[in-house]
Amino acid sequence: MRVLSAIQPTGAIHIGNYLGAIKQWIDLQEKNECIFFICDLHSITIPYDPKEFQKNILETAITYLAAGVNPEKSIFFVQSKVKEHTELCWLLGSVTPVGDLLRMTQYKEKSKQFKKNLDAGILNYPILMAADILLYKANAVPVGEDQAQHVELTRTIARKFNQRFGKTFNEPKTILPKMGARIMSLTNPKKKMSKSMGPQNYISLFDEPEEIEKKVMSAITDSGKEIKYNPVKKPGISNLLVIYSLFSGKPIKELENFFNGKSYSFFKKSLSELLINSLEPFRRKRKELLLRETYIKETLNIGAKRAETIAQSTMEEVKSKMGLV
Ligand code: TYM
Repeated sequence: MRVLSAIQPTGAIHIGNYLGAIKQWIDLQEKNECIFFICDLHSITIPYDPKEFQKNILETAITYLAAGVNPEKSIFFVQSKVKEHTELCWLLGSVTPVGDLLRMTQYKEKSKQFKKNLDAGILNYPILMAADILLYKANAVPVGEDQAQHVELTRTIARKFNQRFGKTFNEPKTILPKMGARIMSLTNPKKKMSKSMGPQNYISLFDEPEEIEKKVMSAITDSGKEIKYNPVKKPGISNLLVIYSLFSGKPIKELENFFNGKSYSFFKKSLSELLINSLEPFRRKRKELLLRETYIKETLNIGAKRAETIAQSTMEEVKSKMGLV
């Protein structure tokens, strides 16, 4: 099976990204051919600072490596280094219904957020994501819940291309984790944890122990005292229970029994200790990797070359089918 996924280099990678996506990648990497990249071209669709951009890309590369992406096993690179992504994106635009782009949830949210200066990039964003996936003819795409709709659109685009130009692409399946596909914000548990809501709403993989403790202790919880999983009535505690369960490997039922009769603050103290210990290896590896910039850049270049070989072969086939050669 060929597995493919990516993350934007838009600042700290948080435990939502980790539990929803990266944790699955690391397991899948053992038995599959994997392609993991940093999608810098997606990040330029919203305002960003070009001066900070290379630093953010490097920081994201460090996160991938610290979290366990193994460049000996998986193809690991930066999207803009393989120009076929943008080339295929343009070609797929001719089989993508505008109506489908307009109904994407992420587009609807972003178009509200950037109402005054809405650029075409935000609308076309899912076509680039489809190009990312189809360029490598990936069979499976491990992502969090918020990206599942874009993978579904990728299947539609693949189908439409095949109908019009002959069988070229397979339809990739989405791989969602059984639990953790949508980790919620610490400050507003009705919204997903996201970088755009600011550092208080997430825990980064590299947060220092004091920050973790402060954020967990001040996480919004619900009225009542019971530590019970009930996402509708108790979204705050339920989200913290999911995080606890995924980092400890203990089922939620067992946690509910253990914390029965204990206070919210006892539970939060225990969760913050768990997170501090679980994230320690990430912080340690990051410190080591910060001293190895040359190695990281070389690794990314090698990855881009490996990716390019596959990408060029797909582009030859696509262009020939479309009458472009
Ligand atoms: P991005 O950078 O927003 O998020 C990266 C991954 O993290 C998942 N995720 C979450 N999972 C659980 N709970 C959360 N609160 C949470 N927040 C984010 C996302 O679902 C995603 O899997 N467009 C994509 C990147 C992309 C891509 C691709 C993915 C570009 N090309 C091709 C797969 C295949 C994005 O912006 O993800």
